[in-house]
Amino acid sequence: MLKEKIKSLAKAYKEEVIATRRHLHKNPELSYQEFKTAAFVKERLENLGITHIEQKATTGWLALIEGKNPGKKVIALRADMDALPIIEANDVPYKSQNPGVMHACGHDAHTASLLGAAKILNELKDHFEGTIKLIFQPGEEVAPGGASFMIKDGVLENPRPQGIIGQHVMPFIPVGKVGFRQGLYMASADELYITVKGKGGHAAMPESLIDPVLIASHMIVALQQVVSRAASPKIPSVLSFGRVEALGATNVIPNEVKIQGTFRTLNEDWRAKAHQKMLQIAHGIVEGMGGELDFEIRKGYPFLQNDPEMTARATEAAKAYLGEENVLDLDIWMAAEDFAYYSQVIDGCFYRLGTRNEAKGIISGVHTPTFDIDEDALEIGAGLMAWLAVSELEKA
Ligand code: NI
Repeated sequence: MLKEKIKSLAKAYKEEVIATRRHLHKNPELSYQEFKTAAFVKERLENLGITHIEQKATTGWLALIEGKNPGKKVIALRADMDALPIIEANDVPYKSQNPGVMHACGHDAHTASLLGAAKILNELKDHFEGTIKLIFQPGEEVAPGGASFMIKDGVLENPRPQGIIGQHVMPFIPVGKVGFRQGLYMASADELYITVKGKGGHAAMPESLIDPVLIASHMIVALQQVVSRAASPKIPSVLSFGRVEALGATNVIPNEVKIQGTFRTLNEDWRAKAHQKMLQIAHGIVEGMGGELDFEIRKGYPFLQNDPEMTARATEAAKAYLGEENVLDLDIWMAAEDFAYYSQVIDGCFYRLGTRNEAKGIISGVHTPTFDIDEDALEIGAGLMAWLAVSELEKA
C-alpha cells in the first residue's frame, strides 16, 4: 500500500531531512538573496536524478516528477526558502553562521521537508499516476512576495496544476499533529505610512503653531472607526499602528509626525473600501485641524483561501496518515502569507505542521530570536507532503 511505503521512506530519510534542515538553518539568506540556498536545492534535486529543473524568479526552482500517465493530473507542492533579519539567540550546534540572519520562520524546515518529499515521490513514481510540480520560491517574507514573481515567471502554467499544497511550521501545535482549515484562513496585509505635517515651534505658544502631535493623536483614534463602525462584524479586520514618531521635546512641537501601521482583513471588496475610508477619515481630520497629510497605503499579500473541497480531501488523507486525533481544525489566523497568490489562481491547501515540544523547551513563536522546531516534525513534514500529493493525484 502506497501510504505504508511513504511512511517507511519518511522514517528512513528522517535523519537526512534533519541534516538538510540543519545545513539550511546554519546558512540562512535574506529574501531575494537566496543564492547559496538555491544552489544547494538544485544540487539536491539533481542528485535525486530529477531532470526537469527550471530556474524561476532568479533564486527559485521549478521541478517536475512524472509518474505513470503524467498528463492525468498535476499537483504542485511549494516551499519557501528565505530567512529573516534576526540575530539568533539559540545555542545549538546548527546555529546561524550568517550574523544577523536567521531562519526564524521555519522556511528551512519547509525546504528540507519538500526535498524529502521529492526524494520519496521520485522513488515511488512508478506507483502513482500524474505529475508532481515542485516549487521552491524565494522572498516569502518581503513584499511583493516571491510567489508573485514565481507566478509571473510561469510556474502555474505548462502544465497547469489542478491544485497546490503548502505547509508551514506552527509552534503552537504540538509535534506529531497538523492543522487544516477549509475556506478563509489568513489575512491580506497592507502597510500604512502616514506623515502629518504641521508647523512646529515652542510648545508654550501653541496659538502660533499647527500641532502635528495632536492631529496625529486624533487620527490614530479616529481611524479605529474603520474597524469598529465601517467594517461588517462578519468580516475580521485589524488595524494596528506600531510606530509613531514625533521628534519634539517637552517644550518643542515638531514639524511633523510619522505613523506606521498595518491593515488586515479577509475580503477584497471590503479591503478596497477600507482603504478609501481610511484616507477619507485622515484627510477629514487634517482638514478640520489644519496641517497637511501624506498617506501611503502599500498593498501587501491578498487573503489566503483554502479550497474547501481540496482541503477536506487533504484533511481526510492526513487523518488516514496520522490518525484522527492528530489532525486539528485551525482558526482564522490574521498573519499574511504569500502562498495566497497561488491560491488566487488555482485551488490551494495551506496547512500547519506542529513543531512545539514543551518538554524540550521548544515554545517560542515564529519571528523571534529563540524560535526553533522539534525536528521530529520533519518526518511528517516530508512524508505527509508526499502522501497528500499522491492522494490528491488519485482523486479524479
Ligand atoms: Ni513563514
